[in-house]
Amino acid sequence: MSASPMNVGIIGCGVISTAYIRGAARSRHILVKSVADIREEAARSQASAMGVGYATIDEMLADPSIEIVINLTIPNAHAEVSTRILEAGKHVYSEKPLTVSVEEAQNLLQLAAKRGLRVGCAPDTFLGASHQACKVLLDDRRIGTVLGGSASFLSRGMEAWHPNPDFFFKSGGGPVLDLGPYYITVLVNLLGPIRLVTATASTGYLTRRIGSGDRAGEDIAVETPTSYSALLIFESGARFSLDASWDVWKHQRSPIEIYGTEGSLLVPDPNFFGDEPKVSERGGDWQAVDISAFAFGERNRTLRTGREVADHRSIGVVDMALAIRQGRPHRANGDLALHVLDVLLAIGRSAAESRVIEIGSSCDRPLPVSTGSSEAVFEVINQTHSGKVA
Ligand SMILES: NC(=O)c1ccc[n+]([C@@H]2O[C@H](COP(=O)([O-])OP(=O)(O)OC[C@H]3O[C@@H](n4cnc5c(N)ncnc54)[C@H](O)[C@@H]3O)[C@@H](O)[C@H]2O)c1
Repeated sequence: MSASPMNVGIIGCGVISTAYIRGAARSRHILVKSVADIREEAARSQASAMGVGYATIDEMLADPSIEIVINLTIPNAHAEVSTRILEAGKHVYSEKPLTVSVEEAQNLLQLAAKRGLRVGCAPDTFLGASHQACKVLLDDRRIGTVLGGSASFLSRGMEAWHPNPDFFFKSGGGPVLDLGPYYITVLVNLLGPIRLVTATASTGYLTRRIGSGDRAGEDIAVETPTSYSALLIFESGARFSLDASWDVWKHQRSPIEIYGTEGSLLVPDPNFFGDEPKVSERGGDWQAVDISAFAFGERNRTLRTGREVADHRSIGVVDMALAIRQGRPHRANGDLALHVLDVLLAIGRSAAESRVIEIGSSCDRPLPVSTGSSEAVFEVINQTHSGKVA
C-alpha cells in the first residue's frame, strides 16, 4: 500500500466542512488539497481559516492529483454536484442524504459503475466503537434472535443554532431525511435491509424563527412535516417503531432499543462514535458493554452542553481511500446509502399517501471493522463479507 496520503478535495464550505477538514487532518491516509464552493468567498475564507488550499470548482475537478472529492453541499445540490465529480473522473464521497430522490441516486451509482469509480456516503458513525461493539454482540447472538425494537430522535429544530436553517424545513428536509440517515444506517448495519414501511406525519409549527447568525430573528416558512411515526419491517422479520420529530422540547426515550429472544440491547446515539451500549440478558440488570477494543471511540469533542463525545466524522472517507488502494469494498458505500434513502423517502411517501410501502432496494450489511487502533484499523484487509442477515 502506498505510504503517501490520497489527495481529496471538498466542495461545499459551510458548517460541516470544518469537521471534515479536522477529521482528515487526524488521518495519515488522506490529505485535503483544496476546498471549493459556489460562493467563492466562502471557500477562500475556509481555506485560509483551516490552512488548506483554495480552488474554484472547475480547478478542483481538473486537478489530476485529486482522487476523491467530498460533496458537502446542501441536499438539493447533492445529485448535480456528485454527478459533476464523477464526470470529472473522480470518486465521490457525499454528505447525507446521497440525493433527494431514489432515481437520482440510482443514476449516480450507474454512472459510477460505468466509469469504474466509487460512491461513498455519510453517515460513518456506524464505523465507530459503539456501533461496531453492538454489531459483534448481535452477531454473537447475545440477545438471541432480534424480534424488534424502537428508534427515536425527538428534539426542537435546527433553527435555534444553524445560521442558514432554511433547507431543513423545505422539501428534501425534515427530521427523517436529515437525521434518519444516522438511525437507519445503524439499524441496517446491525440487522440488514428493510422490506416494508408504513408511517404518519404532521407539522407542529408553520414558521420557525432563526436563532443565530446574521439572520437571527427572521421567520422562515415550514414546507415539510416535522413529526413522523413509522413502522419498519426488516427482511429478517424484525419489527421496529420509529419516531422522528422537531416538535419536542424534552423526552425520556432511548435513541435505539433492540429486543431479542434472549435479552435487550440499548444502542447509543448514532450521531456519535463512542458511547457505551447496554445489554440485559434474560431480564437481568443492564450491563455496560466494553467498547475499549474497538477503534474510533476516543472522546475528542466537547459539545455546547459541555458533554464530551467521540466525533470521528470523515473515517468513512479514510476507509474508502484505503479500500480503493486495497481493491476491497468500502463500508459507507453507495448501495447502503441508496437503500437508506429509499427507506427514508418511503416513510415520507407512506405518510403522504396513507399506505404501506414495499422497499424496492436492498443492500449487503457492510464489512465489520476489526478491533484495533483507530490509526491502523482500516489497513487490515478484511476478506469476509458479512452479507445479508437471513
Ligand atoms: N451542519 C451539520 O451539523 C451537519 C451535520 C451532518 C451532516 N450535514 C450535512 O452536510 C451537508 C451540508 O450541511 P451544512 O450544514 O454544512 O450546510 P451549509 O448550508 O452550512 O453549507 C453548504 C455549502 O454548500 C454550498 N453550496 C450549495 N450549493 C452548491 C453547489 N451547487 N455547488 C457548490 N457549492 C454549493 C453553499 O454555498 C454552502 O457554503 C448537508 O447535506 C447536511 O445534511 C450537516
